[in-house]
Formats: sequence, structure tokens, C-alpha cells
Amino acid sequence: MLKIEDLQVRLGEKEILTHIDLEIGPGETHILFGPNGSGKTSLLMTIMGYSQYEVVSGKIFFKGKDITHAPIDERARMGIGMSYQRPPTINGLKTRQMVNLCAGGEIDGETLAKRVNFEEFLDRDVNAGFSGGEIKRSELLQLMAQKADLMLFDEPESGVDMENISLVGNTIAELLEKHPQPSRDRSKMQAKANRTKMGLIITHTGYILDYLPADKGQVLYNGKLSCVSNPRDILNCVGDSGYKECVRCISMNSFS
Ligand SMILES: Nc1ncnc2c1ncn2[C@@H]1O[C@H](COP(=O)(O)OP(=O)(O)O)[C@@H](O)[C@H]1O
Ligand SMILES: [Mg+2]
Repeated sequence: MLKIEDLQVRLGEKEILTHIDLEIGPGETHILFGPNGSGKTSLLMTIMGYSQYEVVSGKIFFKGKDITHAPIDERARMGIGMSYQRPPTINGLKTRQMVNLCAGGEIDGETLAKRVNFEEFLDRDVNAGFSGGEIKRSELLQLMAQKADLMLFDEPESGVDMENISLVGNTIAELLEKHPQPSRDRSKMQAKANRTKMGLIITHTGYILDYLPADKGQVLYNGKLSCVSNPRDILNCVGDSGYKECVRCISMNSFS
């Protein structure tokens, strides 16, 4: 559903991503790890279509269509959505209006906002004076309204207090259809075959893995996707030995 082939991206004079190959199939969630400055945010911004990220070579396909040079609004309409690490404040635009814009028409913002305890913020300007956790909840609300098929999350736990982490984690799990089915067997997640939503989540802490099982973990190091493995294994390896060693050792092991 998302297919990236040998992508090379420049930001100004700097080459920030090289030889990126990535495939996320329907119902899959991938976790992206990597040290600061390795290019994680740049990869998400490139998939979303920000024009300052110049695709020098390679291709991006989504739903079978070449979107390498498609404008950002077209990608959003096709079903790509993003939760930003540090989204801007938009003075003069109420959160309620933003939610309606994301939905492509008037929707019941109150009911949607209730799911992330955000009703009282609907009539405030987008992100104006919001705390870290409030910004994340606002981002999730917008994604819910958009009903995106591919969701890109840039460090969704950063700046969120312990109390709200579970709300953020469970909401992302729900958005990605990884929440338990309310029917017959509550202990089982919706089977992968029935899921269509796709996710790419950047995390440093790995807290998000406590709320949703991910299909693959990848490490972006110096602008290159250096390895693919089980996300928990990557997290443990980085915790024990650091990124440099992790990239070296995991790349020698096969995907588990
Ligand atoms: N506007 C910019 N101009 C020049 N370099 C930038 C700009 N924004 C980011 N970079 C650089 O691009 C590299 C990748 O940044 P980023 O994608 O934000 O990394 P990460 O999200 O992994 O921390 C970093 O070296 C960063 O300093
Ligand atoms: Mg970043």
C-alpha cells in the first residue's frame, strides 16, 4: 500500500536520506527508531509531501499510484495523515474548525473529542498555549476526523505525562485497528487480515509498544534504513549497546 523505492532526499544543500526502501502493507504498523538528527522526521515529511524535502531520486507509491511529486493536499485526500512532533500554533483557527476541515465537512466534534478528553479545547485556537500532552491529543483528534488510511506519528509520546500516555497509546491502537474487538473474544486483537489501516511510528522510548504490537521495527541511522527487526529486540539492543552497535549487530541477523 505504501512502497518507497531507493529514495534519496535533499533538504537545502544537505542530503538527508539515502537509499530508502520501505514497504508497509495493509494492516501493518512499523516502528521507526534512530538517534537525533538521523532523518526520521524528514522521512515522514517526505512521505507527507512537504516540498522543501526534495526527492532527488527514487519513487513513492501509495495505493498503487506514484505520488513522488504529488502535492501535500492530494496525498491527504488519498488518505495519508500525520501527527506532528511540534505542530505550529494557528491563531484565529479554532480546533473545532480544524477538526471539520480534517473531516472534509461538518462533523460532530464533541463526540469525537470526548474520546480523547478534548471537548473543552474545541473552541480554543489550534495549539495556542496547549501543553505537550494537549498538543498530542489535538493531533490525534485531527487524525480521527481525517480517517486517514496511512498514519504517520512523529514521537507521539514526547511531552506526554505518564497519566496521558495510556490515552495516547490506546487511541493510536484504536486508530490503527489494533484495539481488542468488542465482540466474542476480547483478548484477541482484530485479525490482521481484517485490518487495513497502516502506521509508521517514530519512538525513542518504545512506550507505544506497550499499547500496540507492531509488525516491524526499523532503525534509521545517518539517513539510511539500516536494519529491520522485531521492534522489542531493537529497543533492547539500543538500550544495552547504543544505536551504533545496534545497527551493526542487528543488520547481521536475519529478520525475526
Ligand atoms: N531546515 C533545515 N535546514 C537544514 N538542515 C535541516 C533542517 N531541518 C532539519 N535539518 C537537518 O536534517 C537532519 C535530519 O533531521 P530530522 O529529520 O529532523 O532528524 P530526526 O527526526 O531523526 O531527529 C539533521 O541533521 C537536521 O539538523
Ligand atoms: Mg525528529
